[in-house]
Amino acid sequence: MQIEDNVALKPYNTFGIEANAKHMATCTSVDDFNELRGWKNFNTSPKLILGGGSNILFTKDYDGLVIKNDFKGIELVEDDGENLVIKAGAGENWHQFVMHCVSNGYAGIENLSLIPGNVGASPMQNIGAYGVEIKDVFHQLTAVDMSSGEEVIFKLDECNFGYRESIFKNTAKDKYIITSVAYRLKRTAQFNTSYGAIEQELENMGVTELSISAISQAVINIRSSKLPDPSKIGNAGSFFKNPVVPVELADKIRKDYPNLASYPIDTAHVKLAAGWLIEQSGWKGKKLGDYGVHDKQALVLVNYGNAKGIDIFDLSEQIKVSVKNKFGVELEREVNII
Ligand code: FAD
Ligand code: EPU
Repeated sequence: MQIEDNVALKPYNTFGIEANAKHMATCTSVDDFNELRGWKNFNTSPKLILGGGSNILFTKDYDGLVIKNDFKGIELVEDDGENLVIKAGAGENWHQFVMHCVSNGYAGIENLSLIPGNVGASPMQNIGAYGVEIKDVFHQLTAVDMSSGEEVIFKLDECNFGYRESIFKNTAKDKYIITSVAYRLKRTAQFNTSYGAIEQELENMGVTELSISAISQAVINIRSSKLPDPSKIGNAGSFFKNPVVPVELADKIRKDYPNLASYPIDTAHVKLAAGWLIEQSGWKGKKLGDYGVHDKQALVLVNYGNAKGIDIFDLSEQIKVSVKNKFGVELEREVNII
């Protein structure tokens, strides 16, 4: 394990933003991390754990230690023939892990195919897509307390998972490095095609018999058709969360916009589609020099080349103001701003 100085972070974030880390170390094991804890500047340096860098926007250089988490390994830890627990190192690529499960017939995360990033970040914001969230299959995770070096296990009920939320984004923020995550999967699949677009895509694919690999492929097809591929156009997926608002506000908006995209949460609240709000505010496809709003998904801000992180942040601020002025809805950023 080596500590490098003044490291360019562009290859390490899917937005493709130029920024430098004062120090950076790649850890491939808990032993590596413990060695790093012995470094003379460890306690006094600000620290940022980095996975695949697909939910981060660097708005400036990082004046501290970036710890690239590369803990590897996939292990079946329980298997009664039907129910299983599978554990993966935090540095495993998420999509490759999903493909490993799909090809072995382990059901439960096929709807989460093609989400960029690593296993270790999956609990951070309780990743979700196409009707499934990580909390639906989460068993437990192992983490190391950054200050004491002690290994800690977090069970499902200790993570406070919510929509794009967990304890790790709130009270436990920056306190732990997640080293592995274990998920509960099944051999007999409970197919989740509740997201309308999946049914449609399965029909387009000519699928007559449901399988987890067919669902995975349908999700891959849908995602590839509307989300920009970060290897071609820099982005971090949805820049904002879908806002949850009082029913009264949604009803008020619907009077002027009968096609308002919304989903019920409880009797008093609905979730609105932020992409719809941003599109109606005139931002979809807007290009400001090297950056802008994706033309197929207004929730995704993009870097077409050499944009600065701060410019993309400023654009997100302008979008927030215009959605607030037009609809009275406050958007909250999903991406981690550094
Ligand atoms: P990073 O960006 O590296 O880190 C994210 C945060 O987690 C940071 O605060 C970081 O410090 C922290 N962190 C990372 N690893 C660890 C660790 N081991 N221990 C402690 N803290 C850690 N997200 C969804 O939920 N659903 C989607 O459908 C979705 N689609 C996307 C599509 C595209 C094209 C892109 C680019 C992104 C998308 N995302 C989506 C967002 C992103 O893929 C997820 O948030 C993913 O889990 C981030 O993983 P990462 O390893 O890249 O995390
Ligand atoms: N919409 C528009 N205009 C747009 C974009 C969307 O009107 O430019 C409307 C769509 O027509 C649809 C609704 O908004 O009625 C929802 O759109 P979509 O199905 O594309 O999903 P989303 O709500 O925009 C969320 C997640 C995605 C996840 C998809 C699929 C959030 C913040 N985003 O997007 O997650 O992949 O659902 O489940 O919840 C991410 O978190 O980075 C991410 C990509």
